[in-house]
Amino acid sequence: MSNVMKKVKKTTVGKVHVDALAYTAGDDAALDTVLIEADCIGTAAHVTMLARMPLKPKLFSPAERTRVVKELVKIIGQARKGAFKIRATDQDVHMAVERHLIAQLGDLGKRVHTGRSRNDQVAVDIRLYARDELSDIMEAALALADILVAWAAKHEDLPMVGRTHMQPAMPSSVGLWASAHAEALLEDVSLLTAAYDLTDRSPLGSAAGYGVPLPIDRALTAKLLGFGAMHHNVLHASNTRGKCESIVLSALAQVMITLSRLAQDLMLYTMPEFGYFTLPAEYCTGSSIMPQKKNPDVLELLRARAIRIAADASAAAQITASLPSGYSRDLQETKALLLNGLQATAASIAIMQPIVRRMKANRKALANGFTPEVFATDRALELMADGTPFRDAYRQVKDNLDSLADRDPQQVLALKTHVGAPAGLDLTAMATKIKAEAQAVRKQRQSVQRAVSRLLGVPGPRR
Ligand code: ARG
Repeated sequence: MSNVMKKVKKTTVGKVHVDALAYTAGDDAALDTVLIEADCIGTAAHVTMLARMPLKPKLFSPAERTRVVKELVKIIGQARKGAFKIRATDQDVHMAVERHLIAQLGDLGKRVHTGRSRNDQVAVDIRLYARDELSDIMEAALALADILVAWAAKHEDLPMVGRTHMQPAMPSSVGLWASAHAEALLEDVSLLTAAYDLTDRSPLGSAAGYGVPLPIDRALTAKLLGFGAMHHNVLHASNTRGKCESIVLSALAQVMITLSRLAQDLMLYTMPEFGYFTLPAEYCTGSSIMPQKKNPDVLELLRARAIRIAADASAAAQITASLPSGYSRDLQETKALLLNGLQATAASIAIMQPIVRRMKANRKALANGFTPEVFATDRALELMADGTPFRDAYRQVKDNLDSLADRDPQQVLALKTHVGAPAGLDLTAMATKIKAEAQAVRKQRQSVQRAVSRLLGVPGPRR
């Protein structure tokens, strides 16, 4: 036997050279660890549907179905303890779960894969996983928005110089600054909700993308898994792999853009030269050589991760855009992008919550920013009161910038009462909106958990 042939292994999916196996499996064995639970839940739905399929004899009797589901619940228990291992020879979670079921249940285990493909499985696993993660991320983003609004309310009238081009522009307030970021998050949650709605559709029953000659009940599996809807056309269901990932990543990238801009503001305004805000010291890190250092490493890494997620969203879109209809293995590469994106966004929101909650606003440093020119525009608008056209007032102020007297920023701010301006923020309305959104996410999560508990016959997974 040639040296090459000595390295050919017999696997469930054919005789393959070990190098080709390793190359194609990539990091799946490690990555798929977070999908074990989802794979078991998806399998439980599939087997439950197979058991109800009008065949004679039945593929699974009710008792056999229960045995399979019990075994799947056992795997979930092991996975939660980190005790269920995906072996390199399994290649991925799907083969690992099937290997386990066959080892434990024999012929019963061998019937589980009837009428479905791994493409089916991975698509459904990703939906189930992303659905849970998106719920968490939406709740966390809303909680952060709430913290920002509370912080804004605490400093609603505290004057702060508003900037354009980073240069002093007009009198503004800490309340306006903080609640602007909250509103951005609230709008990002709308994108996450749209991403959730598209994720919350069952792709199951597509098999290899072309259906199967069996009376499978796709609506039943969708319902058993608590999906809000299902993809109708089986080829389309298969083609949504990659597209779903890129949609979710795009929404996550928007959240990260919002957080990155908040982080950027904080890095700027906590520089000693500004000193407007002080970061909680316990969220800053020191230096190995400079004893005095308290660095905003958290904010810097968040800024870099925002760029990475935006790049990953683009990578997922481009991988998908280049593919013909039907499954191609390229899609496997979108998995790491999605999982990383979900995990990094969740972690970024989580770390920003205590930082915002615990940061301090420094009244004196904020007041020191108010040089007389900051009032130039307000002064020009004031001159219009006696009928001077704005352009003339503008010129008059521009020619006499030196004579702009110091004003009380608080008084100037109190005049900006229109909707959304420093004295027209209506933070209570915003807090109410955030609460309502959070309530909707909670309800959705509960209905998913109820469905999955019913399917498994044990209390809902994960949370
Ligand atoms: N690990 C694979 C993926 O992520 C599972 C599906 C494999 N399907 C196939 N036809 N080779 O795409």
